[in-house]
Amino acid sequence: MTMSEIFESEIKSNVEVAPTIFKMELDAPELAKIAKPGQFLNIKLPSNEFTLRRPLGIASTLNGVKVFYRVVGRGTKFLSELKAGTILNYVAPLGNGFSLQEHSKVLLVGGGMGIAPLLSAAEKLREAEVLIGGKNKAEVTFWIKEFSRLPAVDIIFVTTDDGSYHYGRKGFVTDYLPEILSADKYSAVYTCGPDVMMYGTALEAIANGLHCEICFERRMACGLGACLSCSIETVNGRKKVCKDGPVFDAREFVEPENILGN
Ligand code: FES
Repeated sequence: MTMSEIFESEIKSNVEVAPTIFKMELDAPELAKIAKPGQFLNIKLPSNEFTLRRPLGIASTLNGVKVFYRVVGRGTKFLSELKAGTILNYVAPLGNGFSLQEHSKVLLVGGGMGIAPLLSAAEKLREAEVLIGGKNKAEVTFWIKEFSRLPAVDIIFVTTDDGSYHYGRKGFVTDYLPEILSADKYSAVYTCGPDVMMYGTALEAIANGLHCEICFERRMACGLGACLSCSIETVNGRKKVCKDGPVFDAREFVEPENILGN
């Protein structure tokens, strides 16, 4: 496993790509070389007002390191106001990341901000198709642009809660998933997003005999395995998302008849 370390990197850009959703690019060539899809960084906001670090999934390591985040409180509002040229302190790379084994074709299933780690997986996979879901057209359009640039990505399936993206479907990714998996052309499924979406995806993937990896998003106080704030229940007992994950084999959450919550 790669050792994490403290980095200080300049913000190259920090722009709003959809209402309340920002994309930040860091000048971090050393981190880009060692980071794996699914790993995250834990940033320190440059103000004494904020003591806890904030975990952000690495979304891209092409031409710098990119992260996406939604403004949900004072900390992320502060982050969104940082200008290009600001130096950001963070610990990285943290967590284990996706296995990226020699799967022939991987289906990437993501919802909301959980789509970010799947983008970095698509950068490293040989062949991938993507199924993403968001609240509305604005929340999926920028992801579609990011994925369509990648040579490994063949097809992008889209759902929106309100049906406002006309080339996609109205509903949830889990409504669309059985039909997509029935094409029988994937060897693995990677998923990240709301727990209910990931558990539904895991059940469907396993029922289709596919290897499935789940990438959890959690609030993390330390990010280093010391505080237990990120622990989750698995069929093998409680585990820490920051240290044992954030990526887990989906079978760790599947009982013969149902799925464990946390
Ligand atoms: Fe502290 Fe995971 S965030 S143990």
